[in-house]
Amino acid sequence: MNIAIVGTGYVGLVSGTCFAEMGVNVTCVDVNQEKINSLLRGQIPIYEPGLEFLVERNVKANRLHFTTDLTSILHEVEIVFCAVGTPPDEGGKADLRYVLEVAKTLGQNINKYLVVVTKSTVPVGTAKKVKKTIQEELDKRGVDIGFDVASNPEFLKEGNAIDDFMKPDRVVIGVDTKRAEEVMTRLYKPMMLNNFRVIFMDIPSAEMTKYAANSMLATRISFMNDIANLCELVGADVNMVRQGIGTDSRIGSKFLYPGCGYGGSCFPKDVKALIQTAEENGYNMRVLNAVEAVNETQKNVLFEKFKKYFGGEVKGKKVAIWGLSFKPETDDMREAPALVLIDSLLHAGCSITVYDPVAMDECRRRIGGKVLYAKNMYDTVVDADAIFHVTEWKEFRMPSWQVIKRSMKEKPVLIDGRNVFDEKELGGIAYLRIG
Ligand code: UDX
Repeated sequence: MNIAIVGTGYVGLVSGTCFAEMGVNVTCVDVNQEKINSLLRGQIPIYEPGLEFLVERNVKANRLHFTTDLTSILHEVEIVFCAVGTPPDEGGKADLRYVLEVAKTLGQNINKYLVVVTKSTVPVGTAKKVKKTIQEELDKRGVDIGFDVASNPEFLKEGNAIDDFMKPDRVVIGVDTKRAEEVMTRLYKPMMLNNFRVIFMDIPSAEMTKYAANSMLATRISFMNDIANLCELVGADVNMVRQGIGTDSRIGSKFLYPGCGYGGSCFPKDVKALIQTAEENGYNMRVLNAVEAVNETQKNVLFEKFKKYFGGEVKGKKVAIWGLSFKPETDDMREAPALVLIDSLLHAGCSITVYDPVAMDECRRRIGGKVLYAKNMYDTVVDADAIFHVTEWKEFRMPSWQVIKRSMKEKPVLIDGRNVFDEKELGGIAYLRIG
């Protein structure tokens, strides 16, 4: 089977590479010539464990190809996935410009039946717009060529994307014709044979599923952050409460970790977009509005603890930040809690030294010389008053606390945004955590 994936961003590159790994002949398309050139040289533009190896292997096996010219391959593909960016516009709505540009190109150039699949996270109703755009172009050409649209939302997590793709909890596919269902069934046959659940449904439900899933997960996180903050006030320990409720099989133990707010490219964007979709339909998503509001304040919770610890006297304090990316195993800093923390610390007149195993370049690109960059976690703490643990990278787990304490000023404090350290092992460093 031959397919094309348009957009070699995170979703497009991972999906294309994984389909190739499943034996499909895949061409990844991007308008950015430089990006395509570096992919052809085997250099991948994102940090994702295992991806580079798979790209290399499938390029060598001649199953994975890269081009900037979508039109040149249309005669040989059965499916075109649209995985281009849908950045939020000023109102927080997904900008469909790139998706509809792809639809237009397809309408202007296809000469045979094709299934056009939206894989980018797009608002409910997008597949309909894609269909209309393609049909308009076909009508302009005066040709009668059949095509179908489908929606196949992606649920992969950064840092675990290959596994999430290859061993999914489920695959959701929205179709509105038998023919499209048959084509998509052939594509996902290897997964179905391996007993992974592939759920076919109507297109709007598939589009809605993605938003509902991410919003539900964001809701769990904000709920636990609220519970954690209340735990502090009533003398309860959220770590215990989390275990206590997570063992209820109706609740489950995943995504119950309080922290310094959710970030990344999906949760913040998708929660906003769903609120917006509801507004457009005259409905107020009261729960999600609260989820968002809690997340905003939670991103400042580490700074508030720091200020309180030093009785409001934080000007001139020297601080260390461990972890910059919005979560471990990625260099992605979109909506990262670390950015909010850095902002508050700079405003308060603190000097900051940061370290992250992979996101240092990304941080330099975003905020340049406003902070100092250390070579490792130990170098961040020299003469520091406080350490902020923001991203739970494994390499931060078991440092030598004696060495760290010796490097720091008197009465040092560790403010842990991820609740991973044991106060008893810190050799006298004061410890503040969430909940
Ligand atoms: C998420 C969804 O999990 C994925 O299915 C979807 O396709 C894209 O959005 P991702 O953004 O890569 O994936 O990261 P995820 O691991 O879900 O974490 C999101 C944020 O929530 C991170 O900032 C993380 O630190 C935070 N989080 C997660 C918590 O604060 N507590 C938790 O218990 C889990």
